[in-house]
Amino acid sequence: MTPVAAAKPFTAEEEKVLKSWTAHYPYPIMGLLEALRQVQLWNLCVRPEHEDYVASLFKTTRTRVHELVTFFPMFTQAPTGRKRVGLCHGLSCALAGSDKMAKCLEDKLGVPEGVTTKDGEFSWEEMECLGACDFAPALLVNEDLQGKATEDVVAKVARGGK
Ligand code: FES
Repeated sequence: MTPVAAAKPFTAEEEKVLKSWTAHYPYPIMGLLEALRQVQLWNLCVRPEHEDYVASLFKTTRTRVHELVTFFPMFTQAPTGRKRVGLCHGLSCALAGSDKMAKCLEDKLGVPEGVTTKDGEFSWEEMECLGACDFAPALLVNEDLQGKATEDVVAKVARGGK
């Protein structure tokens, strides 16, 4: 994933949404993961400035926020592509040929795993079991399951779904 300059500040509307997560559950801290998930969706990553803002909002430490950001693979510290492609490499998917589909993704998108295309449109990564073993090797674009990865499906994803 490609590093970029400093993060843009949150808009007033975004700040409102993040603040709402402090009041969503019985204890404010319980909304922290959802707030970070929202930050990842808006910015395609969670930057140090975001961690600072969220830590202060949830009255916790930046270290605690950073621990979450670096523990959960859904969070990245540099921007993913606008289309974040996930290929499962769990056992069922490995047996069904996920390695071959990883090579196919690299060829069709023109970038290795974890690198974002120059236009910022795509990045791809291997993921743990997506809970879709029936579709092994399972392929995800953002939060949408594409089903079983084949060369045709990967080519369609690389064309932007057309
Ligand atoms: S092992 Fe790939 S979806 Fe379960």
